[in-house]
Amino acid sequence: MNGSSGKPHAPPNAIYPGSFDPLTLGHLDVIERAAAVFPRVLVAIVVNPQKREPLFTLDERKSMIIAATKHIQNVEVADFRGLLAGFAKRIGAGVIVKGLRVVSDFENEMSTALMNRSLSGIDTMFVPSDPQYSFVSSSLVKEVFFLGGEIDQYVPEAVLHVMRAKRATLRPTEPSEEKHPS
Ligand code: PNS
Repeated sequence: MNGSSGKPHAPPNAIYPGSFDPLTLGHLDVIERAAAVFPRVLVAIVVNPQKREPLFTLDERKSMIIAATKHIQNVEVADFRGLLAGFAKRIGAGVIVKGLRVVSDFENEMSTALMNRSLSGIDTMFVPSDPQYSFVSSSLVKEVFFLGGEIDQYVPEAVLHVMRAKRATLRPTEPSEEKHPS
């Protein structure tokens, strides 16, 4: 990559934002692939997702990501409130990374990417989901888990431990087949 001066550009640092409630193997795959391309990847947890109240606290979400990414040298974890564009600009991110699982993700992600670029000048790069994770989402994983299904193949080991502990906290005396309250 050469700039107009003829000098090579350093690749930008990336920010990978999300709710991560919880981190899935699909998220982890995107992080690993982004970390192979960009010198530094900051996984940025939104503190108060607009969608709904998270099941996991910020500290839980953060520690699950730190544990699951400890094998990747150039990954860091942070959290932010408010606008992603403002946070990405403040920390000097050069690119926003987003995963795309299915075609329907694209419609929303396209306008979000354009808005973020308009607000901050920072472009979004999309990483297509590995087909084995294209149906895996945090919300489905939670639903399956709290209805008693197996989720070992969809979340990192560290997440599974925390989820088991959370289930015990939520319903200490009831069978795992019960749906969680949210
Ligand atoms: O994992 P999610 O829930 O799909 O992540 C969504 C997230 C956190 C990337 C998105 O909600 C976000 O960017 N929130 C910050 C608020 C913001 O910047 N809104 C304007 C978007 S153009």
